Amino acid sequence: MKVAVVGATGMVGEVMLNVLAERNFPISELLLVASERSVGKKLTYKNEEHTVIGLADAVAARPDIAIFSAGGGTSLDWAPKFAEAGTTVIDNSSAWRMDPTKKLVVPEINANELTSEDKIIANPNCSTIQMVMALNPLHKKYQMKRVVVSTYQSVSGTGVKAVQQLENEIAGVQGEMAYPYPIGRNALPHCDVFLENGYTKEEMKLAREPQKILDDRTFSVSATAVRIPTAGGHSESVNVEFHKDFDLAEVRELLSQTPGVTVQDNPDTNTYPMPIYAHGKDDVFVGRIRRDETQRNTLNMWIVSDNLRKGAATNAVQIAEYLLENKLVANTSEVVS
Ligand SMILES: NC(=O)c1ccc[n+]([C@@H]2O[C@H](COP(=O)([O-])OP(=O)(O)OC[C@H]3O[C@@H](n4cnc5c(N)ncnc54)[C@H](OP(=O)(O)O)[C@@H]3O)[C@@H](O)[C@H]2O)c1
Repeated sequence: MKVAVVGATGMVGEVMLNVLAERNFPISELLLVASERSVGKKLTYKNEEHTVIGLADAVAARPDIAIFSAGGGTSLDWAPKFAEAGTTVIDNSSAWRMDPTKKLVVPEINANELTSEDKIIANPNCSTIQMVMALNPLHKKYQMKRVVVSTYQSVSGTGVKAVQQLENEIAGVQGEMAYPYPIGRNALPHCDVFLENGYTKEEMKLAREPQKILDDRTFSVSATAVRIPTAGGHSESVNVEFHKDFDLAEVRELLSQTPGVTVQDNPDTNTYPMPIYAHGKDDVFVGRIRRDETQRNTLNMWIVSDNLRKGAATNAVQIAEYLLENKLVANTSEVVS
C-alpha cells in the first residue's frame, strides 16, 4: 500500500507511525504529511528517514490510504480531495463522524458495515471508543437503557501543546497555554468547546457516537468530561442501566471473552485499571465492576485505555487492516516492505 499519514508530526501521528511499524502494515511507499510549518522536516519510520511534505503534494501522489490526524478543519478541506483522487481516507478528527453518509467504525464492533464505496471513514472519539468496547458485549446481552459517564482525560488527548503546558508547569517555566487554566494539580471540567446546551463538544460526542456505532437509538448517554494532569490514557467512571438484569460473574466473563478488552478487577489485591498501566497498550481495561445498589439492573465500572493507541492510532490502523484483508481498498502498488 502507498500510505499517507497526515498530521505525522503530531501526538497521534507519532503513535500512528509506531503502530504501523509494530503491526508491520504492508507499506510500499510512505508519505508523511503535515502543515506548511513542518514541510522539509525529517521523521524516521523503521530506521529510514522521510521528509515531511504538504497536503497538495500528498494528494498528487495518489496514495491508496491516507490516515488523517490533523484536526477537523484540515479533514473537512482535504479528505474530499484525497477521496476524489481515489484514496481511502481514515479520519481521526470529529469532522465526518456524525455525517450520515460516513461510517463511524470500531473494527471489533462494526467493521462489517464497510464497503469499497467508503472513501472517507471516521474513527470515533477516543473516549467513545474505549467506552463502547466495554459496553457492546453487555448491550447485546442485557440491552442498555441509559449510561452516565464521567471522564478523567489525559492531556495527551489535547495534543502536543497541552503535554508541553503540563511539562512546563512541572518544570516551573513559563510557556504557551493550551488550556485557559493551569492543568497541573488541577481538574478542568472542560474538554473541547462549550455548546449552546451547556455541554462541551466532547460530552456530546460521548452522547451521540455510541448510538451510531452500535446502530441503536434506544439508549441514551449523559456525559461529563474532565481533563486531569495524566498523560498515559483516559479513564471513565461508567454507570449503566440495562433493561434486563445481569449476574456480576457473567458480566466479568463476557468482558473477559471480548477481544480487545482486559478485565483488571480484584479489590483484594488492589487490582484495577490505571492510565499508568494502560499507557502504550492497545487493550481497553475494565475494573471496579460492581452493582449499583441504588437502582435496579444497574452496573458501575471503571474503564481505562491509552487514548493515543486504541483511542486513535490502533483503531485507525485496524480499519486499514480490515480494508486490506477484505480487498475494500485499491492496492495500486507492489508491496516491498
Ligand atoms: N490526542 C488524542 O488522544 C486524539 C485521539 C483521537 C483523535 N484525535 C484527533 O487527532 C487529530 C490530531 O490530534 P493530536 O492530538 O495529534 O494534535 P497535535 O499533537 O496538535 O498534532 C496536530 C497535527 O496536525 C497537523 N496539522 C495542523 N494543522 C494542519 C494543516 N493546516 N495542514 C496539515 N497538517 C496540519 C500538525 O502539523 P504541524 O506539526 O506542522 O503543525 C500536526 O502534525 C485531531 O483532529 C484530534 O481531534 C486526537
